[in-house]
Amino acid sequence: MVHADASAFPSGITKREAYAQLLEQARSLFEGQRNWVWYNLPIPPSFPLTLIPSFHPTHAHSELTTETARSNLANAASLLWHMYASLPSPSSAVNWAGFYVLDPSSPQRQQLILGPFHGRPACTTIPFTRGVCGAAASTRTTQLVPDVERFPGHVACDGATRSEVVVPILNAGTCVAVLDVDCAVAAGFDGVDVEGLEGLARVLGEGCDF
Ligand code: SME
Repeated sequence: MVHADASAFPSGITKREAYAQLLEQARSLFEGQRNWVWYNLPIPPSFPLTLIPSFHPTHAHSELTTETARSNLANAASLLWHMYASLPSPSSAVNWAGFYVLDPSSPQRQQLILGPFHGRPACTTIPFTRGVCGAAASTRTTQLVPDVERFPGHVACDGATRSEVVVPILNAGTCVAVLDVDCAVAAGFDGVDVEGLEGLARVLGEGCDF
């Protein structure tokens, strides 16, 4: 099977069936691939460190990594995007699907940084103290938000978003990233979404080296 076929969701399937296919395709795409997005490549001494997104003056040169690849999180964002597009409303109104990951340059590691996604450009950093993503990361629990305007501190990256679900991705009990899906319709997500997305978050948490 060519990789692009993994995102072909047949029309007329139920949301539960779609999530089952998503998990199956995700497992198969992630096989033999444990990088979520970074390769831990040594950086040559001559490389200008300020060009590295994770650069922080307190880091030793040997601690730094360079971003070179898109892998499991990028493929997962693609699968989610195509799955929602193939489902009826409200799922078809999903306008953002992607990831925020623990910011390696944040001294206390209490900040998220934008990871792979599908949708419009979004805020690049979110502290643990802000927004739905911050709440999911700091409490390590799924946040199902039927009306974003009623969520104190919601970070509005796209004014069209009306509802949102954010699931923490845990690795050995630590939140290493969050999976965020937004919808342009209020109450766009239900328990089936939570169950499906938590399943994907488990596959990613266990299947990637963060
Ligand atoms: N709404 C999120 C921010 C991320 S964007 O929606 C893509 C939040 O409140 O954390």
